[in-house]
Amino acid sequence: MEDFETYFQQLIINEEGGIRFYSFDSKKYNSNTGVALKKSMPVFYNPIQEFNRSITLIAYKAFQHISESDKNFEILKICDSMAASGIRSIRLFEFLKKPVQIMANDLNPLALKVIQKNIDLNSELISKSDIELFNQDARFLFEDLHNKRNLQSIIDIDPFGTPNIFIESAIKAIFLEGLIGITATDTAVLFGVRPSACFRKYNIKSLRSTFLKEVGLRILIYYAASRAHPYMNYIEPMLSFSSDHYIRIFIRIHKGKTGINKNLRNSGYIFWCRKCDWRLSIGMDLHKSTFSCPICQSKLDYGGPLWIGPLHNSEYVEECIRTLEDSEKSIIPSKKKILKILNIILFEDKFPPGYFDIHKICDMLNISVAKTELIFESIRNLGYNAARTHIESRAMKSNIPIEKLKEILINFHNK
Ligand SMILES: C[S@@+](CC[C@H](N)C(=O)[O-])C[C@H]1O[C@@H](n2cnc3c(N)ncnc32)[C@H](O)[C@@H]1O
Repeated sequence: MEDFETYFQQLIINEEGGIRFYSFDSKKYNSNTGVALKKSMPVFYNPIQEFNRSITLIAYKAFQHISESDKNFEILKICDSMAASGIRSIRLFEFLKKPVQIMANDLNPLALKVIQKNIDLNSELISKSDIELFNQDARFLFEDLHNKRNLQSIIDIDPFGTPNIFIESAIKAIFLEGLIGITATDTAVLFGVRPSACFRKYNIKSLRSTFLKEVGLRILIYYAASRAHPYMNYIEPMLSFSSDHYIRIFIRIHKGKTGINKNLRNSGYIFWCRKCDWRLSIGMDLHKSTFSCPICQSKLDYGGPLWIGPLHNSEYVEECIRTLEDSEKSIIPSKKKILKILNIILFEDKFPPGYFDIHKICDMLNISVAKTELIFESIRNLGYNAARTHIESRAMKSNIPIEKLKEILINFHNK
């Protein structure tokens, strides 16, 4: 890794959101899946993650808007703790309202050299003092920020795999009311495909259900809350999403016992029947649970403890939508996709945990699938409500009991 010059010869000029920057050629490091890149890439840059970066720009600018009256955020201090090529930091600096101070950190020394080259390449936009560079393990950087009381307004955590070991120290390094953006790419673990790894990494029982991606989000949020509580802090999920091969949450950090108790009321378990897709979320007191399905009496599976409260703050999501509408497509290339997702997110949270995957239910019943709009209409006619979920295009969130939903689907099939 010492001979940086030989690596520099492999760099190509790229462009994202109107910013030109050096990166290694992602096409040479494609994995079989087409969405993930090989870890052998000398400094990580995945063009598919443009969506992750763009939604992050929107999330942080919307946060800037809602925090305008807070003195701690007059200068927005951002720690991009796993900066890789630095494209996220540079795009953030260019997009956010000044004054903004950015710390770009990465454990990989070569990444720091590339970030420096990218700052130099964009010298007409950024000066050396705007983005400070660090080459540390993010955990030690966070502890150092905490010890020196150099607290941050926003911390971005974007690791390979699980973010588990970074969350607690990040919570200590952030101002109260600050925002932490956390990516997790260990989806096989969070979605219940590797249950023992989930116990090991999160101390939580996963649940491989028909709504496993939502369970993954709820596990990560609960885990973050559990890291905050020992410090008398609590979390507020502002925006949570699942996309491609990763999930990402934006949580706000607050202080106080009343809020911690509220977090605990939003924590619990989800019980699920493998045979008939019946589900129930309950709080932390397992005495209130049933372990057999009330429809078919099969033994229920369960996951938890996990977050059973809201995944988003709807006022904040509305602010994100306004911020996005005011942004140029040249700066936020996936503007259309983000707008679609945020508009779905605004309504999906009004329902109990767990979406209904209509195709899976119809497969289970061995029947054909009716048009989603017709299913929605029938649900409303019965006095229930339903909305799409951003997590699965063929799924819906609803307060209708599964038996009644099945009746609707069977009726359509019989017609
Ligand atoms: C997925 S990449 C980050 C991508 C980047 N945020 C972006 O948007 O392009 C993960 C980065 O984390 C760095 N990293 C891995 N472990 C780390 C640690 N303990 N502390 C800081 N950085 C670390 C890696 O070198 C890599 O550059």
